[in-house]
Amino acid sequence: METMKAIICTKYGPPEVLKIKQCKKPIPRRDEVLIKIYATSVTNSDIFIRSSNIPLLFMIPMRLMIGINRPRNPIIGEIFSGEIEFTGSETERFKVGDRVYGLTGFSLGAYADYKCMKEIDSKQGCLAIMPRNISFEEATSAAYGGLLAFQYLERGDISPGHKVLIYGASGTSGTIAVQYAKHLGATVTAVCGSSNIEFIKSLGADKVLDYTINESITYLEKYDLVMDTVGKRKTSELKKACVDALTINGKYVSIDDGALLLQSDRLNKITELIESGIIKPVNDRIYHFDQIIEAHKYVEMGHKKGNVAITVNKKNPTTVTA
Ligand SMILES: NC(=O)c1ccc[n+]([C@@H]2O[C@H](COP(=O)([O-])OP(=O)(O)OC[C@H]3O[C@@H](n4cnc5c(N)ncnc54)[C@H](OP(=O)(O)O)[C@@H]3O)[C@@H](O)[C@H]2O)c1
Repeated sequence: METMKAIICTKYGPPEVLKIKQCKKPIPRRDEVLIKIYATSVTNSDIFIRSSNIPLLFMIPMRLMIGINRPRNPIIGEIFSGEIEFTGSETERFKVGDRVYGLTGFSLGAYADYKCMKEIDSKQGCLAIMPRNISFEEATSAAYGGLLAFQYLERGDISPGHKVLIYGASGTSGTIAVQYAKHLGATVTAVCGSSNIEFIKSLGADKVLDYTINESITYLEKYDLVMDTVGKRKTSELKKACVDALTINGKYVSIDDGALLLQSDRLNKITELIESGIIKPVNDRIYHFDQIIEAHKYVEMGHKKGNVAITVNKKNPTTVTA
């Protein structure tokens, strides 16, 4: 039996429940491709799945869906970037050696050397060719932050000249949302904490407000779109005030409204904008595979700047030319 290294979640609990183990290498079916994973991410969703630290009302349906005492797929992880190592006889979108990135959806399994994926989009994930000008680690930021930012920003039907406020501009989705909103022609007000103001200006935001300072509320204008990228569990006085800071037809969109759509078309669009230099994915820290516990502890603190990536396998050089 061929084996691979993987991080498994032995039960719901603190970061220490994660263990590195040799597991069976997956064998692709005829309609699947086998991906050698080079990088993954630690996201808030991973923290949520590992800790199961949610109100009882939601815990029961979640555990029925994911697993009663531990995740049904003990290898967690939803984001991957890597290389196609094998293509099933009924697949046609990819060839061996293609560099891809994507999300696994409910099937999880990205904290491992290998993952089998269907080519077609489903609740079990989506994948696409990754941008040629970024590293595998940056690609994980682009896949997760990009899909979230694009889906929820596009709900706002932004037109050139619109005023857009991005609440939580320094996270994985926020950093991409600021850049995408600028690309769509909006005037962007970004909201972040004191330590990230200069960094967010460097992403192109026209104005930056500090959510930790009450006085910031007085600088709010009327926006065509307010996008909350931090989710419903995190708030501030400024966020509460944003609800009323809308034009007559203005929209308030929370990143927690509805499920993330796993769409390879959208990944293709993200690839295009990254390759043309319009959007740059941001990584805060990159951890090695065996530092997964530290990485989970860091993300759990809630103040990462962009994405936290995990190098699963090392491949040099990390970028390729056309
Ligand atoms: N709809 C779906 O299916 C779906 C799927 C996945 C995730 N999500 C949601 O997406 C959210 C965003 O994930 P993400 O990884 O992009 O975010 P993130 O990177 O975890 O966001 C971290 C950022 O949030 C900022 N922050 C923390 N508390 C804040 C507050 N009270 N007000 C303003 N900013 C605050 C921090 O900035 P400072 O350091 O400056 O405080 C930090 O830079 C998740 O938490 C989840 O709710 C939804």
